Amino acid sequence: MIRPKILLLCLTFFSAFQSSVAASAAEWRERSVYQVMTDRFARPDGSITSPCSTNDRVYCGGSWRGLIDKLSYISGMGFTAIWISPIVEQIGGNTGEGEAYHGYWSKNIYALNPKFGTEQDLKDLIAAVHALKMYIMVDVVVNHYANQGEKIVYSDFVPFNDSRYFHPKCDIDWGNQTSIEICWMGNGYLSLPDLNTEDQTVVDTLERYMASLVINYKIDGLRLDASRNIRKPFWTKLCLAAGVYCQGEVWVRDPEIICPYQEYMDGLHNYPIKEAATSAFTSSAGNMSDLVSLASQMQSRCRDITLFGTFMENHDNPRLGSFTTDIARLKNLAALNILADGVPVVYYGQEQALTGSNDPANREALWLTGFATTNNLVPTFTSLNRFRNRVVRTSPPFLTTLAKYTLLSSSVITVRKGKVVLVLTNSGNGVVTNMVVDGFSRDLDLVEVLSCSESRADGTGRLPVVLKGEPMALYPKSLLVGSGICGL
Ligand SMILES: *[C@@H]1O[C@H](CO)[C@@H](O)[C@H](O)[C@H]1NC(C)=O
Ligand SMILES: *[C@@H]1O[C@H](CO)[C@@H](O)[C@H](O)[C@H]1NC(C)=O
Ligand SMILES: *[C@@H]1O[C@H](CO)[C@@H](O)[C@H](O)[C@H]1NC(C)=O
Repeated sequence: MIRPKILLLCLTFFSAFQSSVAASAAEWRERSVYQVMTDRFARPDGSITSPCSTNDRVYCGGSWRGLIDKLSYISGMGFTAIWISPIVEQIGGNTGEGEAYHGYWSKNIYALNPKFGTEQDLKDLIAAVHALKMYIMVDVVVNHYANQGEKIVYSDFVPFNDSRYFHPKCDIDWGNQTSIEICWMGNGYLSLPDLNTEDQTVVDTLERYMASLVINYKIDGLRLDASRNIRKPFWTKLCLAAGVYCQGEVWVRDPEIICPYQEYMDGLHNYPIKEAATSAFTSSAGNMSDLVSLASQMQSRCRDITLFGTFMENHDNPRLGSFTTDIARLKNLAALNILADGVPVVYYGQEQALTGSNDPANREALWLTGFATTNNLVPTFTSLNRFRNRVVRTSPPFLTTLAKYTLLSSSVITVRKGKVVLVLTNSGNGVVTNMVVDGFSRDLDLVEVLSCSESRADGTGRLPVVLKGEPMALYPKSLLVGSGICGL
């Protein structure tokens, strides 16, 4: 472990001459991330009608150029970072499992995926992202390559073109961590040959590769695919070589399994909160008390929950809209997504309340929505991001203050983080609930930033509220003066 003081000195030293590149964990903590599947976000021809049948699992024509043209849609919602699909060359053709449109089937990590564009396109994209003062996070797959058919053609892989760089084939037993690390994902038809990340040549090559990738493209952060499939200490050195914030994927709900990974990387996707929040908020029978309890377990068990990625949807899980189409419930999940502990991560299309269920249905072409900005949850995410960005700028301790979750009833909780107080409910659109929220300074004037309604706590710091299924995000009015938020 690097001692914090020395680390701080190093960071100051590096940031002095690295300017906007190589963002640190603390800088990422301020950000709000929009996750894009490059093939499904925007086409370079600007089409909003080009069909994309998710079931076919083939390339639909989204690209880095298409993304450049639609960056204002993302920045307009107040997002300050973009996570893109893996960028490297993939296995070609249509396998029994479809094409590699998602980017998780590497063949040559030294070449780019030509379906997404050229090297110049990628550099232009990242320059355009930086010009908007946003960060770029690139998804990287280092656990495995991909191979179609029973025979593994190692000589096709670059640079690991020999079986000696890979673990011998075996099927993963998901109840056995050693097996998760050394065996292979995939099936007989489409297997994912597992790199031998205990081998020093492999490790050295990957570290050199990651360092040069980050510098060459001015990448600000990495998303580490399949982190649980590689021994933990591997990640410390890989992220140190990359020199940027790393957010890993460990797809489990158990804090006891996920938290230890944070000793080896900056943060992880907050799967435990995602799963508890999804079941708590997508029906009025959802268990709010389970969410409250999980939030406190994550805070006490993990090293620093504020560096985790807080998400409610991603490319691997059914969209929230497949569980409920009640817009008020989706807004409650949006409020928690943006204003809970951690770095908010919103999956493209979540703002349009898309309804795709399991992969591949959850990978819709966003262009078919026409990039509308007044519909569904776009105004909600815009208000939430704008508010969070203001709080981050004017009251940065918000970021490192842990949220306190309190159960008010079986269907209502408060989430109090710094001076932000969320009142959230799973009761559904229009259901009227009377509650009293306490703990404010007496006679405090408050603004609810989603509806812009104003209220005042009483002489004992209590505030009666009438919920109608929608979330509330309460903040002291005096702190919003001059922000432009709610006309203040
Ligand atoms: C692997 O690639 C290296 C470097 O290009 C080459 O020298 C070597 O012959 C290749 N090995 C195999 C097994 O294809
Ligand atoms: C776990 O998996 C490893 C690798 O396949 C195997 O050697 C070991 O015997 C397994 N352990 C148990 C308890 O099954
Ligand atoms: C709700 O979650 C709590 C905490 O995890 C648990 O004790 C309780 O049994 C759950 N209630 C139901 C109805 O499942």
